[in-house]
Amino acid sequence: MKIAISGKGGTGKTTLAALLAQLFRQAGHRVFAIDADPDANLAATLGFPQAAGITPIVEMKELIKERMGVDDLNGVITYFKMNPQVDDLPEKYCVEHKGIRLMVMGEVRKGGGGCACPENTFLRELLAHLLWEREDTVIVDLEAGIEHLGRGTAQAVDVLLVVVEPDLRSIETAGKIKRLATDLGLRKVWAVGNKVGSEEEQEFIERQLAGWKIIGFLPYQREIAASAMTEGGLEVEQLAAQKEIKAVLKALESGASAPPRAKAPGSKTLQRRFR
Ligand SMILES: Nc1ncnc2c1ncn2[C@@H]1O[C@H](COP(=O)(O)OP(=O)(O)O)[C@@H](O)[C@H]1O
Ligand SMILES: [Mg+2]
Repeated sequence: MKIAISGKGGTGKTTLAALLAQLFRQAGHRVFAIDADPDANLAATLGFPQAAGITPIVEMKELIKERMGVDDLNGVITYFKMNPQVDDLPEKYCVEHKGIRLMVMGEVRKGGGGCACPENTFLRELLAHLLWEREDTVIVDLEAGIEHLGRGTAQAVDVLLVVVEPDLRSIETAGKIKRLATDLGLRKVWAVGNKVGSEEEQEFIERQLAGWKIIGFLPYQREIAASAMTEGGLEVEQLAAQKEIKAVLKALESGASAPPRAKAPGSKTLQRRFR
């Protein structure tokens, strides 16, 4: 299963990504978590020791130069590979903690044709590989925008979960994300309400997201806020709202698995088909 998580900053994307990673792991899945938010904190939330010391992939300049076939990432680049080899990288550059493997993507240079820079192409290829070709349950913690998902990678995502709070701003962002995702060919764009403090707040979200499939509501939980103040990270089994969190997992398990896909396109196919 391949799950991507988006939503306005602060709504709880990383929290949900971490909780789902732990639950899938407990259910016996091989879990591969990807932090694709430039403001990366999935490792810390999962309690990885020395989380701050993990080098994001995008900062591995020598690796990127070698794989992209360029000498200088900052010079004027007129040619670089469109299908770099990436299939060996998840094993080599992931970190593992309590059975969950994790890769931190890092922040891609923006502007000035940023979209076509070698680092961007490299990250997209890596993400495409992780989503199309890995057998693991892959959970991607995205940013509010979904720029990392090109058309080819978006179609490998079984479900995009959009996290909302009882707050109009996060609802507005959710609408934008859904439009973008739909344009990219993502069919299952589902919502999760988070930090819900009362029935009124849940009803507010339901009203605002009329027409959406909402697969769960997580209450505001002091333990989650408190865990953000410690180094140890979040432990799903220590939370009070077990029932609510497990309901999200259940909805994913029963509704997310797509019918068998056509054979995963290799990188070259991806290039031709979708770029
Ligand atoms: N259900 C919740 N109850 C209480 N605090 C929460 C809840 N979900 C998230 N938080 C807190 O809100 C803040 C933002 O959550 P985070 O998952 O980092 O959001 P995002 O990744 O969307 O920016 C964090 O301090 C987190 O601990
Ligand atoms: Mg986050």
